[in-house]
This record gives sequence, C-alpha cells and structure tokens, in this order.
Amino acid sequence: MRITAYRKAHFNAAHRLYRPDWSDEQNTAVFGKCSNPHFHGHNYDLEVGVTGEVDPETGYLIDLKILKDIIKEHVEDAMDHRNLNIEVTEFKTLIPTAEHIAFVIYNRIKKHLDPKFDLEVKLFETERNFVVYKG
Ligand code: NI
Repeated sequence: MRITAYRKAHFNAAHRLYRPDWSDEQNTAVFGKCSNPHFHGHNYDLEVGVTGEVDPETGYLIDLKILKDIIKEHVEDAMDHRNLNIEVTEFKTLIPTAEHIAFVIYNRIKKHLDPKFDLEVKLFETERNFVVYKG
C-alpha cells in the first residue's frame, strides 16, 4: 500500500529578487516590489510530503519525528528569521524566488531522507501563491 504523509512547517525570512548584472530599472520592471533594495519579508508556509510503501509490520510509512527533525535542522534553523540572500549559501548563486526556495528545501531534505521515499515540497509565499517541487 502506497501512501503520502505530510508535515507542515513555517518560517519567516527576508529576501530580495534581483540580478546584479541588471540595472535597478530592469530589476524593478521584472521583480516589482520583491526587488526592493532594502529587502522585505514573507511568512513562508511549507508542506513536505513523503510517499512510499506502508510497512506491514508497523503500519507506518515513516516515523514523522524523523521528518520533523530533518525539516527543523536543515530548513527552519537555516532559514527562519534569516536574510535568504545573505545567510543561506545556495542563494549566493540562485535568486531566492519561491521556485528556487522550494528547490533548495527539496535538495536539503532529500539528502537526509531514506532514498526509498519520494519527496515533494509545497511552499506558500503568500496564502494564495505557492509552488510545488517534486524533483
Ligand atoms: Ni518577495
């Protein structure tokens, strides 16, 4: 029996969307308010899904404490109340859009998760705007 278990998480972080090789005008035209040179914050909501076979012996897919701890250590502790552009290594070379943040979170979790599981990351940047990355 295949099933997906989810764990929700939350973090607040600041970012700025811009390309240093573009002019301020060009950055504002493309990224709008998210290009504010003084940065700004979002309340990010995260839903992490793990898919696999239920263990017939325990009835568990995964001990959710394991997933909780991976998310805490590698996502929340690394990103909560941080400036993503400055404090999270991956965003030295990636623009911290919701798309890229979901990609980075996926890779961070994937590295620490049993490879038998499929992973999906749903990231809400606002209540109504979100992205899903499944690798
Ligand atoms: Ni923004």
